[in-house]
Amino acid sequence: MSLNIQSSVRDALQNGFEEALSLQGEGVDPLLRKSQNPEHGDYQSNGAMGLGKKHGMNPRELAEKVIGLVDLSAIAHPLEVAGPGFINIKLKDETILEMVREMDADSGLGIAQSEDAHPVAIDLCGVNVAKQLHVGHLRSTIIGDALARMFERVGRKVYRENHLGDWGLPIAMVLERLIASGVDLDSLSLDALNDAYRDAQLGARMDSRGLQRAKERDAGPHRIIELETQNESASEAQQSAKDLLIALQQGDAKLVGEWEKLIECTMRSVFESLGLLNVKIGPEHNRGESFYREHLGGIVDEFVSGGLAVEDGGALVVRFDNRDRPMLIRKSDGGFLYATTDLAAIKFRTQTLGADQLIYVVDARQRDHFKDLFDAAALIGWDKTPDGAEVDMVHIPFGSVLGDDKKPLKTRSGSNVTLSSLLNEAIERGVAEVLKRSSDENAPTHGMDEASLHTIGRQIGIGAIKYADLSNDLVRDYVFDMDRMVAFEGNTGPYIQYAGARIRSLISKCEDDWSGAEFILGEPEERALIMQLLQYNAVFQGMLNSLEPHRLCTWLYDLTEAFNAFYQACPVLKVEDKEVKLSRVKLAHLTKRVIEDGLDVLGIESPEHM
Ligand code: ARG
Repeated sequence: MSLNIQSSVRDALQNGFEEALSLQGEGVDPLLRKSQNPEHGDYQSNGAMGLGKKHGMNPRELAEKVIGLVDLSAIAHPLEVAGPGFINIKLKDETILEMVREMDADSGLGIAQSEDAHPVAIDLCGVNVAKQLHVGHLRSTIIGDALARMFERVGRKVYRENHLGDWGLPIAMVLERLIASGVDLDSLSLDALNDAYRDAQLGARMDSRGLQRAKERDAGPHRIIELETQNESASEAQQSAKDLLIALQQGDAKLVGEWEKLIECTMRSVFESLGLLNVKIGPEHNRGESFYREHLGGIVDEFVSGGLAVEDGGALVVRFDNRDRPMLIRKSDGGFLYATTDLAAIKFRTQTLGADQLIYVVDARQRDHFKDLFDAAALIGWDKTPDGAEVDMVHIPFGSVLGDDKKPLKTRSGSNVTLSSLLNEAIERGVAEVLKRSSDENAPTHGMDEASLHTIGRQIGIGAIKYADLSNDLVRDYVFDMDRMVAFEGNTGPYIQYAGARIRSLISKCEDDWSGAEFILGEPEERALIMQLLQYNAVFQGMLNSLEPHRLCTWLYDLTEAFNAFYQACPVLKVEDKEVKLSRVKLAHLTKRVIEDGLDVLGIESPEHM
């Protein structure tokens, strides 16, 4: 029996509709859904209404005809038509039991493994050297890591690509400023580095219309600095930064050493925050802009010799058929751009790593950049791996994190909120909540030592932030509301974590051996919980195809609700019948496994006790 029962039912109905309408092989959609009302069945097909109308047939008659053609007798009770033409499908108990046994016996909980042997490259984090992490990087990191875990969960090889902004003029400007001010680079704090970055930017600021427009469109710091420095009437500071960049590019040993110190200083603080976040991102995932510096000339040559890049006022641009905006790949002074580096990265990821899926988790302001990039890569043929697989390139343009005032999140003093301050606040909230609860004598955390309580608090606080970030449609802006995020009630991370911890303590109170127990479909809530569990694979694959982690969040929340309803209606340890008792413990255990697995895919830890 396959765990993809829903898709088997769907396929059978699709065939039925196609036969009934003589549309064989047309791929009509039977609109199979989970039933709204379990009394009517487990699934319902709503396809007859639309299809009947479209093909001039009474929907009810169409539905009757379809059920005459479809044979699901091996797994379901006779199909029934209701209302204007709904088809109700109720699975046989034995079918459901067989599926849940199979899911429970599988260490992978029925999640189908991918057959694609190509790796996936996920562009995430993307911090800039000499700058503090801010909430934008927080989103890129959380979402990127969750997507990476999703792919790993189905057996794909994933490259987490941290495309650090560690090369080019912005960095040269900071380095120039630091050297000029005689700062000791060995004992540099990130704050001092950050200040130097800001000063360097201010020093180079000039009035020019292109720049103004870029700012109005909020094109992002990278692009703005590029434009700023393109201004012909460059200031003296810029000239020395340019000179410094040339020396750096030529490999001046002393400068390279100093440049490495800036990276070290930045990454030390970045990894401190990432450590709190429980993401699998370390120094081994750094492949920043500087990695591609020797590739850039060759990349441009390839475009030129392929006739894809043309001269435009001394610069080289790639033009696209369907829009005016060209893509600049070499400036008139011979310098390369952010885009050139990204082209080199696409070539590396598809042609060297052999990835057939490139995912860029970068905020929505860089939409145009990625559109140009993907189109240019297709023009030159990097939309296929060396073994001929089609490459899928996706930009996930996530929305901004907003404050109460619905404006991008700022501190009271008006500066950008740093990641570490945000994380620390979340952790403090989590710890405070745990301490409060543990003072109750009956709490499972009562009497635990400080360090353990602190660990749980961190897991809750960080879990809360991550869940809040992932549970919305990614492209939408969302309001950062710490109170709501850390609440133990509602659609929150802690609510789901709490269910897992409660189940754990429930199971630990069962003194009998339940491992060999048989699942039982007694009460409607039991059946509903099992039906929810059986959707795990379908939901997971749907999330993977759409790259929408919020689908898993919503489903886990529904699972938690289904468990709570079951627990309300079905006594577990106190029920008389021993077989029923053991079956319920077993069901609770499966639920716990799925909750923990689902949270883990989202990068959220499951505290043992709460
Ligand atoms: N460092 C860039 C920024 O902060 C983000 C990097 C995104 N990744 C990429 N491959 N362009 O704007």
